[in-house]
Amino acid sequence: MNATLDTTITVILATGNRDKVKELRPLLEDISPLIRVTTLSELGAEVEIEETEETLEGNALLKARGIFELLSERFPALIALADDTGLEVEALGGAPGVYSARFAPMPEGKSPSYQDNVRHLLASMAGCSNRKALFRTVIALKGRIPSQNGEQFLFEHLAEGEVSGSVTIDERGSEGFGYDPVFMVDATAKTYAEMGITEKNRLSHRSLAVQKALLDLRKTLAENSIPLIYCPDNP
Ligand code: IMP
Repeated sequence: MNATLDTTITVILATGNRDKVKELRPLLEDISPLIRVTTLSELGAEVEIEETEETLEGNALLKARGIFELLSERFPALIALADDTGLEVEALGGAPGVYSARFAPMPEGKSPSYQDNVRHLLASMAGCSNRKALFRTVIALKGRIPSQNGEQFLFEHLAEGEVSGSVTIDERGSEGFGYDPVFMVDATAKTYAEMGITEKNRLSHRSLAVQKALLDLRKTLAENSIPLIYCPDNP
């Protein structure tokens, strides 16, 4: 039997990227009245955790752990949720992958903009007939939830979502961010930038990873007699 939880679980989106927050929030906000979603900027903690690992999994965990350590004392029940995402292009041997944010070469000390990266990608693929690509997101959760007997249940979890598609020849569409104007989803023949957030969230790499993470979390909590989080797909 599951206990009744009388504490709200605070989910902290462990990212300073406003574009990711815009997509993540609606994916998490309505799953349960027990869950409150908040951001680093709302908590006055605009920290940037450097992505020093060489895999999406490593970087996602690094961010979830860092934000959990920083803010865990402020909440009795919390989950730090981090997202690391990469675009893997077959003809480029899987690049830019984990380096998607830093793909375009820049002068020392300068970070490339989304536009710099998109232009560099299209230039790197000029004349290339194999345009197959994969968008991959890894979601890392690090949380602490009080259990029925007053103990603290601590957990870490990783979940992945991927979508296959291709890199277009030219940019298409004006919605979204990052590589959205040049990533065409196989299943729709539209780029993410031609979709808008609601449609993108129905099928994206990010939303698949979040749904998987929530399903796994719900199972883990149930196995540990912690109240189930209501998932619409799995009542
Ligand atoms: P990171 O997960 O912050 O390391 O993201 C890497 C880079 O991938 C970002 O700077 C964006 O350029 C790109 N990116 C991440 N998610 C998406 C997405 O959903 N669409 C398009 N580009 C994305």
